[in-house]
Amino acid sequence: MLRQAKTLKTSAAKSRTRVVPTRTVKRVYFFGAGKAEGNAAMKDLLGGKGANLAEMTNMGLPVPPGFTITTATCKEYNDLGQKLPRGLMEEVTANLRKLEKVTGKKFGDPDNPLLVAVRSGAAISMPGMMDTVLNIGLNDQVVEGLARLTNNPRFAYDSYRRLINMYGDTVMGVAHEHFERELAAVKKARGVELDTQLNAEDLKEVVQRYKRVYREHVGEDFPQDPMKQLQGAIEAVFRSWMGERAIQYRKIHDVRGLLGTAVNVQAMVFGNMGDDSATGVAFTRNPSTGENKFFGEFLINAQGEDVVAGIRTPIDCNRMAQEFSKQSWKQLLKIKEILEKRYRDVQDFEFTIERGKLYMLQTRTGKRNAVAAVKIAVDMYREGLIDQKTAVLRVDPASLDQLLHPMFDPTAQRNVIAKGLPASPGAAVGKCAFSAEEAHERTQNGEKVILIRKETSPEDVQGMHSAVGILTSTGGMTSHAAVVARGWGKPCVVGAGALQIDEKSRTFTVNGKTYGPQDWISIDGSTGEVIQGQMPTVEPQMSGPF
Ligand SMILES: Nc1ncnc2c1ncn2[C@@H]1O[C@H](COP(=O)(O)OP(=O)(O)O)[C@@H](O)[C@H]1O
Ligand SMILES: [Mg+2]
Repeated sequence: MLRQAKTLKTSAAKSRTRVVPTRTVKRVYFFGAGKAEGNAAMKDLLGGKGANLAEMTNMGLPVPPGFTITTATCKEYNDLGQKLPRGLMEEVTANLRKLEKVTGKKFGDPDNPLLVAVRSGAAISMPGMMDTVLNIGLNDQVVEGLARLTNNPRFAYDSYRRLINMYGDTVMGVAHEHFERELAAVKKARGVELDTQLNAEDLKEVVQRYKRVYREHVGEDFPQDPMKQLQGAIEAVFRSWMGERAIQYRKIHDVRGLLGTAVNVQAMVFGNMGDDSATGVAFTRNPSTGENKFFGEFLINAQGEDVVAGIRTPIDCNRMAQEFSKQSWKQLLKIKEILEKRYRDVQDFEFTIERGKLYMLQTRTGKRNAVAAVKIAVDMYREGLIDQKTAVLRVDPASLDQLLHPMFDPTAQRNVIAKGLPASPGAAVGKCAFSAEEAHERTQNGEKVILIRKETSPEDVQGMHSAVGILTSTGGMTSHAAVVARGWGKPCVVGAGALQIDEKSRTFTVNGKTYGPQDWISIDGSTGEVIQGQMPTVEPQMSGPF
């Protein structure tokens, strides 16, 4: 407010003859300590994530505090030729001070550091299109302070190596695989298989190596100034809105009329503080069968994308009481109830447990298939959550076509080895074939194969048609493979960049593991997941609620 008043005064003073209308736009909305400036109705301005973080805060749910920079600011940024509008960083700083007050911590202070997450989020969800940077605010001094403060150097260095990786990748465009290689090397040298088996000293070594990678590829050192990190991450999220992937996604999904993405800056909570900490994702009901039963997974001592990245096998949330903590399980059930009462629909949400305390990081309406849509609508009507008209509207007639296609058994474990773009929906299971000719031939011999290519071209069409599914390591939603597969209704995942395909030796390598012609993989064209082995499929059945 003070700042706005000042702007008014100076501009009035400068233009005595000409009255310049000073439009003071509010660009930043705070949420925290049980109160938020936004709410669920403000998706267009705050994005879906921001609007619901505000809403959940107002509902009294445990949401780490933070603030949302509006989607309109993203438009300003891109209209200005990718420059932050004047006054934005002042507003950000003012909100950061507020955040420090609410959390009792200080950004950049080694003795009591506040760390933040910078998270994208447009009005509609665009899975995997834009990025998140966690643990902003760490540097060489702060990491030491955090280690002392928590008495947990392993946690501190684990967080730091993740920041350098995410910042390098998302903000500076250093390919993730360069970091991955160093991590693999340290694990190998220590003779361990899992990230969690690395100790504090090992992770210090990883940090050193990551910094080297950063310097090599960026040409300067990893920024030690937390404010510089924050600004870099905010700009990266704004830029990602105009990135090739995001533009293509909007084209394919016919998304129009949005201003841009919002940026959520939020205090970090830590699922990687030890065995009393965890992170997970869940649906309040089963999105494939519609069953009114909790559906989700979590990982102990983990952070961020670990759950979906398939680094370790996550635990079914329904086993949380037995394998983690009764109290957290109770909290989850309570949250299911509160969310469904408020939103009157299935919620797909993300949570993190820091030393036994559960925090909500996101909620949105859960996507479901047609079978589930029917069952959920009927059940919610019977439970008195929605009326009959709403129940009928909850089933999209166009989606009923899905009832004819098999899909992966939603209760089966998914060992996800890579993720690409969900180019053409459906589930496919097959052995690996590395050329169109091979795919065609082996299919003729009665095998089921998935055609795996860097990209496809018109000559490949016969083999593409023979294969049960198509997987490429490059290309976007409008690539040849994607367009052709969609035309046929064939499952297809494109742009799975982590795959290193060697056509000559007929193998591909991902996360240090190599797959050949006799190996089975499964692809989910609705999520973009590439899964190791043969996933069981289920035929949706027309019964019960129909
Ligand atoms: N404030 C936070 N504290 C801890 N972890 C976070 C925080 N914000 C996000 N994360 C982690 O990062 C993951 C991805 O971030 P998110 O912004 O939700 O990206 P996406 O839009 O891809 O889901 C979350 O699922 C969560 O595990
Ligand atoms: Mg998320």
